[in-house]
Parts: sequence; structure tokens; C-alpha cells
Amino acid sequence: MAEKGIYTKRNDGRKMDEVRPMSAKVGIVPSADGSASFQTGKTKAIAVVRGPRTLHPQHMQDAKTGILRVNYGMMPFSVEDRIRPGPNRRSEEISKVTEWALSSVIDLSGFPNTVVDVFIQIPQADAGTRVAGINAAAMALAHAGIPMREMVSAIGVGKIDKTLVIDLDKYEDSEFHDGEGSTDIPLVMTSRSKEIALLQLDGKISIPEFKAVIEMGKKACDNILKIQMDALKNITGEGNE
Ligand code: CDP
Repeated sequence: MAEKGIYTKRNDGRKMDEVRPMSAKVGIVPSADGSASFQTGKTKAIAVVRGPRTLHPQHMQDAKTGILRVNYGMMPFSVEDRIRPGPNRRSEEISKVTEWALSSVIDLSGFPNTVVDVFIQIPQADAGTRVAGINAAAMALAHAGIPMREMVSAIGVGKIDKTLVIDLDKYEDSEFHDGEGSTDIPLVMTSRSKEIALLQLDGKISIPEFKAVIEMGKKACDNILKIQMDALKNITGEGNE
């Protein structure tokens, strides 16, 4: 528990730079063109890819390239308070930023006038769902055979009061307001060029702290990439977990 203003011990006993237990599976929905799941602690994301297929209505088509369309949603039972089904401001924002992050590594120029749909669903949410969704979606796109220049791996980093932390859970994301509060930074890294494909910042952080926490995130993304690549080598091909 934190002393006033200083976060010294994590609720679940993790080190400040330690992620939750992570796992990934590819091929979880056999009828889809590509599918995968990614789990960190109690946060779980499922991603399904359909396409490329002809985009309707026709006036939305691009004769030079296919387009990526992401739909993120939390399942009604994913948190204790029931989530109302259907889109809302938060889900629209997460769908858009996920689309931007994934678009930076895929190449749909070989599929003019088409759309590739990525459906991300969250059966269990304990913070970090957008980054878990991006990890799952990247694997599902690779599984679907969508041309990718490189992979992406994603993690949440941040700061609780004065302490830099990685992979915040919901408790950490929301409970610490007696000091400086918590800062949440979803980060998406590309696998080869090591560029940042997405970074969002909710809260306050100094420039030196920001640089340090990004380094922490980059290391975690290298490990997440290994988990993703292992899952892609061991495709389940089964609908059952
Ligand atoms: O999930 P992520 O960290 O990417 O996004 P967020 O908007 O910062 O949400 C953090 C967490 O708040 C989610 O992962 C859920 O655990 C929780 N949440 C919730 O309980 N009810 C909602 N309507 C939305 C989020």
C-alpha cells in the first residue's frame, strides 16, 4: 500500500517494472480469416480478422488500396458494472487509435477497393484493454496473411504518485489520488524499426520521467513480441481453448 504521496509497494506484489503474467493464442476462431487472444493478468482481449473483402458502399472504396476498419468493444460482463452494449465515445476512440497503430505496419495496396475488418472484444477488463487488444489484433492480422512490414507490440506504462510503473491494473489506474495521482501511457512499438506507432498520455509526467518510462515500455514490448511470435508458431487451429 502507498504511504501518502509515495507508491512503494504494488497491490499484487509485482516489482515496479514487472508486467502481469502474459499469454497469447492464435487461431481461436477457426471460421475467421485470422484470430488471436492476448491476456495480461485479468485483462483479456480477443481479436478476429475478416477480409480483405469488397468494401460497401462503393463510394467509400479506394481504388489504390484496401482500408483497415477496427471495431473495439467491451463485453457486458467484462467489468463488475454491466457495460451497455453498442458503441460509445470511449470505444470509438479506442477503435480509431487502434486503427492508426495497426495501419502504420500493414500494407493493403495489393487489395484495392477492399476492407479488412478487425473486431476486438474484451471479455475481462482490468485496465490496459486497448494495448491487449492491439497485441491480439497484430497477431490476428499476421494469422490472416495480411501483408505486414513488421509486427507491433503494446504495453501500458505510467506513474503512480512519484513512482514509474508498468502494466497498471484497474486498481492502480484509478485508486491513487492522495499524492500526484496516476499517469497512464499506452505505448505501441514496431518490432523491427523500434518506432512508436502509438502513444497516448493521460496525466502529468516530467520529460526525464517520460524518457525513463518509455525505455521500460520498450523492454517489455521486446518480451511481448516473443510471446506473440511463439503463439504464431504454435497456431491452435482449435475453437476450444
Ligand atoms: O482499458 P484501457 O486501460 O485501455 O482504457 P481506460 O479507458 O483507461 O480504462 C481502464 C479500465 O477501466 C478498463 O480496462 C476497465 O477495467 C475499466 N472500465 C470500466 O470499469 N468501465 C468502463 N465503462 C470503462 C472502463
